[in-house]
Amino acid sequence: MDCYIAGNWKMNGRHDWAIKPSALMSELGGDVPDNVRVIFIPPALYVGDLAKSAHSAGLLAGAQNCHFEEGGAFTGEVSASMCADCEADFVICGHSERRAMFGETDEIVRKKALAVHEAGMTAIICIGETLEQRESGEANDVIAGQLKGSLPASTTSINTIIAYEPVWAIGTGKVAELDDIAQMHAHIRECVKVEFGEYTSENLPIQYGGSVKPGNAKEILALKDVNGALVGGASLDMESFAAIIMAAG
Ligand code: PGA
Repeated sequence: MDCYIAGNWKMNGRHDWAIKPSALMSELGGDVPDNVRVIFIPPALYVGDLAKSAHSAGLLAGAQNCHFEEGGAFTGEVSASMCADCEADFVICGHSERRAMFGETDEIVRKKALAVHEAGMTAIICIGETLEQRESGEANDVIAGQLKGSLPASTTSINTIIAYEPVWAIGTGKVAELDDIAQMHAHIRECVKVEFGEYTSENLPIQYGGSVKPGNAKEILALKDVNGALVGGASLDMESFAAIIMAAG
């Protein structure tokens, strides 16, 4: 299975960051390792420019969010078909920051992912437990519930990536134990199997996210059911992003 390394810039960047894909290619010496797919995910305003520069460097691009409606009176929002129109290949749905700060429920995330599928793109659907939920032994149930609620019936192994991001590991420098990551990714595959069958479960990429850095990427990406990383902070600097991509190869 391909390995998907996505850089989620969050609310960072400027117009001239459209040169980052070519800067990354220079860091990589002109080649992305075989079977590694690199995705730039800038703020919505910059998706069009980034998609162009990423595609011309042989890389991919995505948006961080979209509305589930096709269009209409939704001031400030951007639809999935607008992301596709700007040549996005992916849209993140239900990042934990959106769940926590912008009230996104599993149902909203499911509707967004469906809109992404209908617009012909791949949804990166984020799930993850809080520290409190992990410490009280609820992590498996929380993840099962989020998967059941957030994955639309249209989910296939082609149009969906699941990103497992323990909330307490995002932007904190804390990384989950390797055993816990391996266990949770296997659990996610089991849950997907129950809902969508064996083929989808075995072929659907599952990314890990939360403080992935050059220093820890190799051991995380070597785990059996880990098929990539959703990288925040370390994707802002092309030297560290390139080091993570090399670790995936
Ligand atoms: P981080 O963010 O790598 O800065 O922890 C990951 C994410 O939120 O996707």
